[in-house]
Amino acid sequence: MSDLFGLRSLDPAMLASTPGVKWQAHPGRLAAWVADMDFPIAPAISERLSALVARGALGYPNWGPTPSPAGRLFVERMNSRWGWSPDIERVHDVADVLQGVRIAIELLTEPGDPIALHTPAYHPFLNSLREMDRRIVELPVGADRLDEVESIIAAQRPRLLILCHPHNPTGHRFRRRELERLAEIAEAAELVVVSDEIHSDLVYDDPSDAETHVPFASVSEWAARRTVTVTSASKAFNLAGLRWAVMHVGHAELERRLRSFPDHFFGAPNLIAVEAAVAAWTDGGDWLSAVMGVLDENRRSLVDLLGRHLPGARYTPPEATYLAWIDCSHLGEGEAPRDIFRERGVEVSPGPQFGREGSGHVRLNMATSPFMLERIVAAMGGT
Ligand SMILES: Cc1ncc(COP(=O)(O)O)c(C=O)c1O
Repeated sequence: MSDLFGLRSLDPAMLASTPGVKWQAHPGRLAAWVADMDFPIAPAISERLSALVARGALGYPNWGPTPSPAGRLFVERMNSRWGWSPDIERVHDVADVLQGVRIAIELLTEPGDPIALHTPAYHPFLNSLREMDRRIVELPVGADRLDEVESIIAAQRPRLLILCHPHNPTGHRFRRRELERLAEIAEAAELVVVSDEIHSDLVYDDPSDAETHVPFASVSEWAARRTVTVTSASKAFNLAGLRWAVMHVGHAELERRLRSFPDHFFGAPNLIAVEAAVAAWTDGGDWLSAVMGVLDENRRSLVDLLGRHLPGARYTPPEATYLAWIDCSHLGEGEAPRDIFRERGVEVSPGPQFGREGSGHVRLNMATSPFMLERIVAAMGGT
């Protein structure tokens, strides 16, 4: 099997010495927690950044009017990849996806306001809402749960919906029909939708249907006017430390509020991060396809690995993301499974971090080589 980008031949000793929180925060354990990949980055990115650094060309960039070149490329990419045409006048560079989400919450809602999201939920969303004193309205995940979503929204009257699309931690991929219905529900309740699409390049092919990722802002005219889309190259191309993301503000009032801030109020984008995103989105396609091949193999083989090493665990392969949401409640409720895996030398994310449904669950990061995944799961099983 060809391994053009070295995705299958990761060296365990090298991984353990990788700088960064994933491998350094819990020394001595196999790291399968925070959503960073173990893979070497795309050569297109390392070559572009190396050339820039070798030249010493790290002064003020000559980019012209905002947004940055990566922000401009975002517009083209949404169009060519998903058939959605964002308005370049509504594109903002931000430091990271969470900054975009928090700006929208801060400017569109007040302390005490109810805000909806699907739970289990990416924990920084839950933490943001708690820190910002907003009330959390929990929605169930799944295309078959839309009636429940509708009645919860009708009863709780949230002001805003944070859509994690595709969904972390469950790996649920919202299809067009589900999104259209969600948009109708949101329209009836006059919600604003903040759609975090950071995992949208990590959707697996489904042989039964050719549908690709569908940006929420593209599902209806109403959605186009009420959606704030936030995304980044950082998740699919493993660039989280660089800090660059992009926000598209379909919502006219938020756009007006944002433009009322003085220039530089939210800072200005980082040259290296923008260059990396441009390289990723221009020349990183082959690398991303190779990564998706390995991830697809891993998400499938995990069924078998769990069956062998951890019978009793319940897992359905995700439709998107490299995160496996595993019910290990046979080992105990709350954080008990995470604690057991820690003792066995593996660091995973504890389910309760993602909300109440996470009791007895763990989130396992599969963005590693098939060999490492097998080692991780064997260790989780105590062998
Ligand atoms: C759904 C989701 N949103 C946002 C982030 C973080 O993005 P950023 O570092 O740009 O804030 C992650 C990281 O895993 C994520 O899974």
